[in-house]
Amino acid sequence: MPAAPLRLGLAGLGTVGIGVVKIVQAEADLIAARAGRAVTITAVSARDRTRNRDADLSSYAWEADPVRLARREDIDVLVEVMGGHDGPARAATEAAIASGKDVVTANKALLAHHGQALAVAAEGVGRVIRFEAAVAGGIPAIKALTEGLAGNRIKRVMGVMNGTCNYILTRMQSAGLPYDQVFEEARQLGYLEADPNLDVGGIDAGHKLSLLAAIAFGTQVSFGAVELEGIGSVSIDDIRLAEDMGYRIKLLGIAQMTGRGLEQRMTPCLVPADSPIGQLQGGTNMVVLEGDSVGQIVLRGAGAGMGPTASAVMADVIDLARGFRVPTFGQPAASLALPQAARSATPAPYYLRMTLIDKPGALAKIATCLGEAGISIDQMRQYGHQGANAPVLIVTHKAAPSDIAHATGRFAATGVLVGQPVAIRIEEV
Ligand code: HSE
Repeated sequence: MPAAPLRLGLAGLGTVGIGVVKIVQAEADLIAARAGRAVTITAVSARDRTRNRDADLSSYAWEADPVRLARREDIDVLVEVMGGHDGPARAATEAAIASGKDVVTANKALLAHHGQALAVAAEGVGRVIRFEAAVAGGIPAIKALTEGLAGNRIKRVMGVMNGTCNYILTRMQSAGLPYDQVFEEARQLGYLEADPNLDVGGIDAGHKLSLLAAIAFGTQVSFGAVELEGIGSVSIDDIRLAEDMGYRIKLLGIAQMTGRGLEQRMTPCLVPADSPIGQLQGGTNMVVLEGDSVGQIVLRGAGAGMGPTASAVMADVIDLARGFRVPTFGQPAASLALPQAARSATPAPYYLRMTLIDKPGALAKIATCLGEAGISIDQMRQYGHQGANAPVLIVTHKAAPSDIAHATGRFAATGVLVGQPVAIRIEEV
C-alpha cells in the first residue's frame, strides 16, 4: 500500500507561499519519487482571499485564521511563510505545535526572538521546527551546518546575508553613487522590506546570524547579544578609499566562540577585495563555514526571491515526508547552553579615515594618540589636500576595539582634527 501523503497547511500566500504552491503542483511526481510519498496542500490561509494570485488555489480549503489552519486535523505540517516575530505567525506556530504538528518556516525574526521556547515546545511533543528558508534564502546553510558539518567543531561562521545591503554597497562602489541615492533606487526596485530598517539596520541579517550561531556552537539563540550596526553611515568616500587600499566594505556577520565567550556581530567592515566575500556582487548572499576538520566551506547563491526561498522550504518539507527529522537547532533544545556573550570583539586591524589641518606636527599628534593606546600603524596614506585640510587614511595592526575607541576619542583634543574620524574594522576572511 502506498504511504499516505504528507499534508501541508500553508499560512501565507505572498511571494514565498505562491512559490511553494508552484513547486508542489509542478513537481508532484519528482517530489513523490524522492520522498517516497506524495506531498499535498490541504488548506491555505492569507490576509486577503480576493487578491489575484498567480496560482490555482481552487482545490485547497481556505482558512481566514492561520491559527485555525494550524489546528486542522487534516494537516501534518504547518508551513508558515507569513513573517513577523509576533502576531499571527507566532500564534499559528504555537497552535501547530500544541496540536502535534511539525512546522516549516521561513521566519527568521520569529526564531531569533522565540526560537528556544518554540523548539523546546516542539520537542516536548515529539515535533520539530525546520527553517532552511529563514537563513540566506536558497542557500542550504542550515543543512550544511546541521548535517554536512555535523562531525566538525565549528570555528567560525560568517556571512553576507542581506541581499539588499549587498546590492546597495556594491552599487555605490560600481557607480560611485552616495548612499541616499542608491537607497532610493533599491526602494524603487522593491528590494526593501516594508520596514527598511530591517534591511539597512542590519536586523534581518542579525536574525540570520543568531540562528546559525545557535547551531554552530550548541547555544540558545541570543539575537539580543548580536552587535548590530547598519550600513546607513557608510560613505562613498570610504568605499572609494577602501578600494584604493585593496578592500571592499560589506555588511558582514561573524560568529565565533572565544575563550571570552560568544562573539556575534553584524557590522559594516572591510574585507580583502580579492576574497570570495569581497567579490560578492549585487543581491547575492554568501555563507562561509569553518570547521576544524573540513576547513573553510563557501556557499554562494540567491538569498531571497520566490524560487530560491520556496526551494529551501521544500527541502525541509521533503525531509519531513521522508521521515528525516533533525532537532530544530541540530541537537535537543533542552541541551543547548546559555551562551555567555563576549564583552569585546577579538582584536583586528582597523581602517581609520580622518581629515587633519595641514600644519607641521599634525600627523605626529595623531600617531602619538595611537601609540599611547598601544596601537601600531601598518599603512598610511595622505590624499590630495583640500584647501588647508589633508585627508589621511591609516590602517593599523591588530588592535582591540576598546583601544581604537580610546585613541580616536583623544584625536579631538589634539586640535588638528577636522570633523569626526571614521573607524571600520578589517576582517580576515
Ligand atoms: N530582505 C532580505 C534581503 C531577504 O534583502 O536579503 C529576506 O530576509
